[in-house]
Parts: sequence; C-alpha cells; structure tokens
Amino acid sequence: MSQSRVSRRSTLKLLSAGLAATATAGTSNVPLASAQSIDEPDAASKKASEKPAGDRDRARRMKWWHEAKFGMFIHFGLYSVIGRHEWAMEMEAIPYKDYERLADQFLPKPGSAREWAKLAKRAGQKYMVLTTKHHEGFCLWDTKTTDYNAAKSKVGRDIVREYVEAARAEGLRVGFYYSLMDWHHPDGARAGKDPEARQRFRDYTYAQIRELMTHYGKIDILWYDVSWPLDKDGWQADKMNDMVFALQPDILVNNRNKAEGDFVTPEQRIEAAPEGQAWESCMTLNASWGYHASDDAWKPAREIVKNLLTCAHDGGNYLLNVGPRPDGSIPEESVKILESVGAWLAKNGEAFYAADRCQPTRTRYAHFTRRGNTLYMSIYFWPGTSATIGGLLTTVKSVRLLSTGQPLKFEQDRLRTIITGLPAQPIDAPATTLAIECDGEPKQDQYVVRNERERPERA
Ligand code: GLC
Repeated sequence: MSQSRVSRRSTLKLLSAGLAATATAGTSNVPLASAQSIDEPDAASKKASEKPAGDRDRARRMKWWHEAKFGMFIHFGLYSVIGRHEWAMEMEAIPYKDYERLADQFLPKPGSAREWAKLAKRAGQKYMVLTTKHHEGFCLWDTKTTDYNAAKSKVGRDIVREYVEAARAEGLRVGFYYSLMDWHHPDGARAGKDPEARQRFRDYTYAQIRELMTHYGKIDILWYDVSWPLDKDGWQADKMNDMVFALQPDILVNNRNKAEGDFVTPEQRIEAAPEGQAWESCMTLNASWGYHASDDAWKPAREIVKNLLTCAHDGGNYLLNVGPRPDGSIPEESVKILESVGAWLAKNGEAFYAADRCQPTRTRYAHFTRRGNTLYMSIYFWPGTSATIGGLLTTVKSVRLLSTGQPLKFEQDRLRTIITGLPAQPIDAPATTLAIECDGEPKQDQYVVRNERERPERA
C-alpha cells in the first residue's frame, strides 16, 4: 500500500471520529457536517491535484469495460417502497418527514444482492452499477456523514457492502451510482445561492464519496448523476475527480459531475459519440428506473438484443436497468427478459462482446456487427431460406450459422451477396446470427445499388 493511501486512511479515521462525536449530539436523519474542509486537502490529494489529470492512462483503464459492453443498472432506494418511480418525492411534493418514514418499510431480504448478481451473470452482464444514493438522499451504505442510511434504519444492514460482495462473488465488476443532487440534505438546494451552504454541501458530498472510495476495496466505476444546483466550478469537479483517482487509481468515472470523465452517458436512447469518445447508453426495461408497481411497458427481449447490437456496432456499452421491490426482489418480467437475452448471448455472444466498430448497416431485417474481418448478421425478422446483402464490397470467404457452426453456401457479385440454404425457420430467438468471414474489413456501399444497378434501356 502506498504511503499516500496510509495517510489518507488515517485522515479518514480522524474525520470519522470527528463525525461520530457530532453524530451522538445530532438528531437522527439530519446530515452531519464534515469536520475537514475540502478546501484544505491533505498532502495526498494536494500531490494528486498538482499533477495534470490528463487521461490518466485511459486506454488501459477502460480495456475491460470496452470488452464487457453490457452492465446491470440497479435503482434501489426508499422510492421502491412507494412503487411509483424514483422521482415520486419531488413529482408528488412529498414532505421530507413523511418520506423519511418510508425507511421503516425498506426491508431487502438478506441475499437480495446475491440474487441481483446471479441474474446479471445469467443475463450476460459483466458489471453492475448500484444507486448508493439517489436524489432522495437516503444512503444505502453505513455512512458516518448522516443517520439517513440503511445501516441505521430498520433494515440495519450496509446494502452497499452486500452488493459489492455479491458482485465480486459472481466475478462481476463493481460500479457505484452517486447522485450529487440531494433533496433531503438541508443544504442540497441552498448550496446554489449561499456560499456557506455550498461549502457545507461540498464537504458532505466529498466525505461521502471518500467513504465509498475507501471502505469497499477496489471499485471499478463511479457513476455520478445530476449536478444540480451546482455546476463544474461549484462542485470543483476536477478536484472531486482528483480525490477519487488518488483513492482508486484504476476507476472509471462518467462526466455527470460536469468534469471531463472517461465516458458519456446518453440516457434512454442510443447515440454513438464520435470515435475516440467512450459512451454508454443507459436504459430502463420498462419506463421507470425505480420500481414502479404498475409500469408494464416492458421491452421485449428482441428489442434489448437489437439495442445491444446497435451499441456494439458503434463501439458503445449498454447499461440496462432493474428496479427491485422494497424486499429486494426483481420483478418477474425483468427476470424473464434478462434471462432470454442471456440465453441468446450464451450462444451468439461472439457477435457482441469484443466487437469492433462496424461500417455496414443496410438491411431491414438484421443488425450487423463486426470483429476483425468477420461480419455478423443477426437476423431478427426471418427472410426464409436465403438472405441477401446489397452493396457488400468486401469479398466473402465463408459463411456459417454462428450458434451451430453449420456452413452455408453463398454467391457474390458487385451488387449482391446471396446466402442460401438457411433453415426455413430461425434457429435462435430473438435473432439468428450468420458469421460472414471476409478477406478484409467488411465494407458496404450504401449507394452502389442505386447508382449502378441495371435499369431498362430507353425505348
Ligand atoms: C436521470 C434521473 C434519474 C436516473 C438517471 C439514470 O438523471 O434523474 O432518476 O437515475 O437519470 O440515468
């Protein structure tokens, strides 16, 4: 362990002791002020922030993430007790005192986190991101900074610790979602206008992030959310990241604290970032992040597989959400969809994991992905016993059905590649994948058919 880590640990101990002393004097559910001002960093963070941040060896840090491609997002908090979306506290203007009482019904069964991790594994997901604190302000971990947390409420357990252990037990990478916006903290709104409140709120937030980055071993992702009421300067967001990287040198951070970050996060849509910029689409399975008892707008497994392939086509990741009930159980519909997706990936994952960016796109019944010189055509509306690609410029060497290895015949000219001898019905649901090996990187010309096709002679 490095010297700087030791000094940080001892600083934290002192800080915790100070907070604990304040805690005994404080009333419950009131966030406690931090003893150490973040404006006076200790030697370790000074040292870290003196170095220009640069990209901190980003390519090396992100290698696993690009290969992982598919993660499970988990929105879990007091809002799951209400069961009407995680924004209920604000959307329905629920007074904070009433809202606090939800904590008595927030009772995840022991072993819940292990069930989430097992499901993620079955789904083919390689990492998880849990809401350690959502906008409601309730902390799922045993924090010294406030009594408004799972360990000090009726459930009496550190849910973040259980989650970290569960993810590791299933061999999954561990991510923490953390909302900067806080509807419960006394300074959570005042911080926007009042400099003293801002300082207190920053101190509180930094102390929380420091706990999360210190108490649970190696953390792979820090997923910030909503920076309101502060901007990049208000949060001193570069300094925030300096602290995070001093504690977790290999971590990945998103850009929602308004600093540069390692990846961008298009939400509820798939939108590729320009090449060179890592991106991750996050999406719900129905229409809500937090548990919503009557939201039945479930996406079919086919849509999820299509979304995965769309992300892989353009070099992005896909973070797919589940919203557990207050007892920690994941709605059966979510389980069913994730299991179908996982079953498909188990047979056809070669077309998805470790895919490179892919140029061909043109077809109306399949998705293309690529790895090296192999083009994968994942067909979701079955065309019958032959499949045709227009304008494939690269010479095809061989074609096989990916999940069985069965070779298929083909003919190719400048305008058409016709693959024949397909089974009359698809062999995999929700898509059957053909692996088309080419003699170079597969390229398609969108316009060659229109421009060069044979047309009738003028009479
Ligand atoms: C938004 C929402 C939030 C959700 C998040 C996930 O910022 O406010 O409820 O957690 O998106 O990306």
